[in-house]
Amino acid sequence: MKRDDMTGLATGGNKTRMLEFLIGDALKMKADVIITGANPFSNHVRQTSAAANKVGLEIILLISGEQPQEVNGNSLLTEILGAELRYVGGEEDELGPKMEKAAQEYREAGRHPYVIHKFCSVPKGCAGYVNAFMELDDQLKQQNIDLDEVIVSSAAGTYAGLFVGVKALNSDVELKGIAISERIPGWKDRLCELINGTASHVNFDYTCRPQDINVNSDYFGEGYAAPTDGMIEAVKMVAQTEGILLDPIYTGKGMAGLIDLVRKGVYRKEDKVLFWHTGGIPSLFTPQFRNLFI
Ligand SMILES: Cc1ncc(COP(=O)(O)O)c(C=O)c1O
Repeated sequence: MKRDDMTGLATGGNKTRMLEFLIGDALKMKADVIITGANPFSNHVRQTSAAANKVGLEIILLISGEQPQEVNGNSLLTEILGAELRYVGGEEDELGPKMEKAAQEYREAGRHPYVIHKFCSVPKGCAGYVNAFMELDDQLKQQNIDLDEVIVSSAAGTYAGLFVGVKALNSDVELKGIAISERIPGWKDRLCELINGTASHVNFDYTCRPQDINVNSDYFGEGYAAPTDGMIEAVKMVAQTEGILLDPIYTGKGMAGLIDLVRKGVYRKEDKVLFWHTGGIPSLFTPQFRNLFI
């Protein structure tokens, strides 16, 4: 397991690796305020708040939907981190123009805002996962491990960055994504666009074709954040056998996929498979999830 639940920012997670490059860019642009947004349960806003604090930038968060009646794991940590939360209603995927409007208001007031779109899943952010694959490759060489496959619960930024890393190093490691939400028409084309953008950002000449993408869509159940029996079993099994916590939205479903594929005989005992832990542990404390485990 690659432990990106231990990347350091306020309980860690995958966004931290992407923020290394995005916050770096904000500093280069002499920004004085970061604007980003997501849903009220977001790991992304928690990590972005911590990252902004670390480099002394103000942080404004646009949160979709209504303010939850009860505080949840991530929203509690985000409040403690001191970010300004603005509940703006609507859906998460409608936040882009709202963030740009807020940025414009800041610019008119003489400030220098830096907007982080798409929960860091933009080429500059995905560079963090190109880097992460290079780090893994070094570790595998140091430890003399001939890895067959990487499994990650992502069909967006993390997958795209790792994909470019695999191709750029000409690695024979197979990368498999486990989708954690329903796939909308054209998703492979959009993922290819992100992969191509990331490749171009890191100066690597590569063009992705939809058939190159390996994402398994068998384990998201009824949709994003909808609990599945496999997820509950996986979270408990990994906690009780390894002492490692997974999350109920992403890594729990990814691990449920891995467990099921082992049971189906897709992997043999001698296969070397790495599970990429992307964090998200605060979601275990969310009212809708916490009672599933007791
Ligand atoms: C814990 C966790 N894992 C995986 C993901 C998927 O990230 P991405 O879509 O950038 O690959 C997220 C995104 O919010 C996350 O919070």
